[in-house]
Amino acid sequence: MAHPELYERCKALVVELALGSEAEVRDVQPLTGGVASDIALVDLGDRKICVKFALPKLKVAADWQAPVHRNAAEYAWLQVAARIAPDSAVRLFGRSDAKHGFAMEFLEGRETCLWKDHLLAEAPDRGEAEKVAELLGRIHAASTKNDFDTSPFQNRDDFHALRIEPYLSHTRAAHPSLAPSIEPLERMLYENQTVLVHGDASPKNILFRRGAPIILDAECATMGDASFDPAFCLNHLVLKAVHLPASRDRLLGDVARFRSAYVLHVTWEEPAALESRIAALLPVLMLARVDGKSPVEYLTEGEKQVVRDVAMPLIEAPVADLGAFVDRAREALRKGIA
Ligand SMILES: Nc1ncnc2c1ncn2[C@@H]1O[C@H](COP(=O)(O)OP(=O)(O)O)[C@@H](O)[C@H]1O
Ligand SMILES: [Mg+2]
Repeated sequence: MAHPELYERCKALVVELALGSEAEVRDVQPLTGGVASDIALVDLGDRKICVKFALPKLKVAADWQAPVHRNAAEYAWLQVAARIAPDSAVRLFGRSDAKHGFAMEFLEGRETCLWKDHLLAEAPDRGEAEKVAELLGRIHAASTKNDFDTSPFQNRDDFHALRIEPYLSHTRAAHPSLAPSIEPLERMLYENQTVLVHGDASPKNILFRRGAPIILDAECATMGDASFDPAFCLNHLVLKAVHLPASRDRLLGDVARFRSAYVLHVTWEEPAALESRIAALLPVLMLARVDGKSPVEYLTEGEKQVVRDVAMPLIEAPVADLGAFVDRAREALRKGIA
């Protein structure tokens, strides 16, 4: 057996959740892509399931630690998504608190595709950005209702450790002149607890199955500021616009289409106020992916400098809306900084 320790943990989880016996576990294959967890495909003979365990330490940076109980928040977020949008959710098969692990449906097949792979392959746009925006908007809106149970999502200290510190504080330390712009955003993200934030709405965590988005990897889920998920997701589209000149117009168009689809769901506050926070946060997240703790892997040195050249002026003097943001980004890229 290639992964004896993982194999044993998967068998124990399958038994604890009454999904099968030890003997029924035919094979365990680790899935690649994640840095925060052990995730594996478990073959139970007549069916395959996916199991995920939180890791006490992320695989990327030696000093980047976060508590394992975030696995509970992830499962709770997936349950919320399944309730609000059953067609856009992974089926859940139970969770073990003691093992910090849970089991879910294994999403596979010709009609299933990771959004990141789709974008990097420059495959035809089928409205993926709008669909993700719509789903996030629905979840955000539902979480502001009086009957929404916020108790599994009192996780702002985890969110601080996993998101605010590595993305914002670390970037501020690398660029002290930008501190007056970044520090207030750090406070805002920590203090505002209005909506259920997913916290990792990146194309690498979003699968499309028969045209429906399924958002996975909710370990950072917390009650938080609504600007975070849109800014985090849009950041990936903007970084890919830098990296993929042939897709640039389409990706910057996706930013505008995402915005339009998302704002329709903003019922809990003035949409323009929220949009201005997204427009302020987005360039900080861009800079974080070149000078923060978790740099994006596909950008060349030249492209990283382009990201700095686009982001830094927009951090110093933020624009009020995403239309203006796209205009500025398009202009900077067209001028041939790229
Ligand atoms: N239920 C699932 N079915 C199929 N593939 C999955 C499933 N869950 C995760 N994956 C794949 O495994 C990768 C890592 O899972 P993820 O939950 O994102 O873990 P991490 O927190 O380690 O990033 C995902 O990017 C996706 O490609
Ligand atoms: Mg992931």
